[in-house]
Amino acid sequence: MLDAQTRLHDTPATGGAAPAAPAIPHPPLMTVADAKAMSVADMNSLFKDHINPGQLHFMKLLGFNKIKVERAEGMYYIDQNGRKILDFFGGFGSLAVGHNHPRLIAQRKAFQDEGRHEIAIAFMSQYAAALAKNLAAISPGDLDMVFLGSTGSEAMEAAVKVAERAAGPKRPKIVYAENSFHGKTKGVLSITDSPLYRGEFRLVDRTVRVPFADIDAIRNAFESDPEIGVIVLETIQGGGGIITAPPEFWQELRRLCDKHGVIWVADEVQCGVGRSGRFYAFEHAGVVPDVTALAKSLGGGKTAMAAMIARREIYMKAYGSPKTAMIHAQATFGGIGEACITAIEALNILYDEKLIENSAVQGAYLLERLQGLQAKYPKIIKEVRGQGLMIGLEFHDFSQTLPLVLRPVVSMLDDKLKGSLSGFIGALLLRDYATLVAFTEYNRNVIRLEPPLICGREHVDQFVEALDDLLNRGIIRIVKDFVGSQIG
Ligand SMILES: Cc1ncc(COP(=O)(O)O)c(C=O)c1O
Repeated sequence: MLDAQTRLHDTPATGGAAPAAPAIPHPPLMTVADAKAMSVADMNSLFKDHINPGQLHFMKLLGFNKIKVERAEGMYYIDQNGRKILDFFGGFGSLAVGHNHPRLIAQRKAFQDEGRHEIAIAFMSQYAAALAKNLAAISPGDLDMVFLGSTGSEAMEAAVKVAERAAGPKRPKIVYAENSFHGKTKGVLSITDSPLYRGEFRLVDRTVRVPFADIDAIRNAFESDPEIGVIVLETIQGGGGIITAPPEFWQELRRLCDKHGVIWVADEVQCGVGRSGRFYAFEHAGVVPDVTALAKSLGGGKTAMAAMIARREIYMKAYGSPKTAMIHAQATFGGIGEACITAIEALNILYDEKLIENSAVQGAYLLERLQGLQAKYPKIIKEVRGQGLMIGLEFHDFSQTLPLVLRPVVSMLDDKLKGSLSGFIGALLLRDYATLVAFTEYNRNVIRLEPPLICGREHVDQFVEALDDLLNRGIIRIVKDFVGSQIG
C-alpha cells in the first residue's frame, strides 16, 4: 500500500517539483472489518466511552447489551450465537417491509454498480422528483408538495415551519397535545410533551397544550384565542402509549380548523406508511390534514428518509415565490440518490405485497389474541389497544403492590423500573424467548408492538405463545427471574 507521502508524489506533474507537504500521520482508526469483528465486550466498552454511558445502564437492565446482531432478515435479527430474535419492536415502526428486503438490496446494488449520483443540491434529481411524485400520488386531496429530509424530527420541523409561515405572523400560536412526541430537535421540542426531553432548554413560548383527542378543549382554545394558527397532532400517539382517537374526533377537528382558519399538521412519522392498516392513519376518518410528515418506514429499514407533505395552497403561501423559495429548501442530504430509490422501491413493495392490508388483518388478529391473554391474566394485563400493527399492551402498575420482599432488590437495580412489568417482561421475552418488544417513553407500563408489516399469522402465534408462557409464571416469579437475569 502507498503511504501518504508517496500518494502526494503521484499527483500529476505540473512542471516544477511541488513543495512537499508535511506528512499527516494516519490515526489509529478502526476499519470496517474491525467493526464487524468486534466482541460484545468491546461494543459495551466503546458504547460507554464514546456514545452514551448512561444509556448502557438501561441496555444492561433489558439485556440488550449482550446481543451482537450479525445479520437481519425479514422478521428476525440473527445474533452472534445464530439465535433468531423475533422483531416485534420493528425499529419503532421503521421496518414496514422487514429487514433487508431483497428488492431493496437489488435496487441499491444496481444503483451503486451504475455509478449513479447521490448529492442533489446542485442539479435536479430524477430520484427525488419520482419519490415526490409517488408521495403525491399516494396522499389524498391536494397534499402534493414534498420536502425530503432524513429524520422524523427534520420532517416535523419542516411541517411546523411551513404551517407557521402559511398561518402568518398574526397567528403565531401552536396547539399541541399532552403526551405528544414530535422529535428532539430544538424546534419541535417545544411541542414534545416530555419534561425529561425538554430538560432546561429554552423553548418557544407561543404554544397551547390540550389533552389528546379532546375536541372540546380544542374548540375552546380556537374560540378563545384568535392568535392560534396551527395545531400539531400525532394521528396515533406512539410515545404516549399507543393512543388513538375516534374518526368523529378527526372529522370535527377538520371542521373546526376550516371554520377558524387553523392549519392542521398530522404527524404520521410513526403511524404512517401503512402501519395502521391504511397508508396514513388519518385516512380511517376520511379526512385530509393540511400538512403531514413521514419518516421511519419510508426508508424501507435500509436508509434515513423523511418527507413533509403539504397541501399545495399552504406550500405556495409559505414558499411559493422566488423570494421565499429558499427559506426552507432542501438541506445537503435532502433527496440523496440511494435513499430516494430505496424509498421509491419500498413504497412499491408496500403495494405489490399488499402489506397495508396485511397490517390490518394481522393487527386485528394480534389484538384479538392479546385480548384472549387479557381475559386469562386480568390481574396482569390492564388493556390492549391500537390499530393495524401498532399495538399497545398495558400492564397494571405494580409500583405500589410489588411484594415487600422484592421492592428493595428491584429499586436497587433501577428506580425507574420499580414495579414496571414492561421492563421485566421485555427483558425476559428477549432472554428466554428470543423475542424483542419496544418500550414507551411516557408510560412505563406499556409495551409497544410494531412488527414489520410482512408479519404472518405464524409470527403473531409465536409472539403470543411466548408471552402466554411468560405470564403463566406469575408476577413473583417474573420479578425474581428478572432479578436473576441481572445477576446471571
Ligand atoms: C410521531 C413521531 N414524530 C417524530 C419523531 C422523530 O423522528 P426521528 O427520531 O426520526 O427524528 C418520532 C420518533 O420516534 C415519532 O414517533
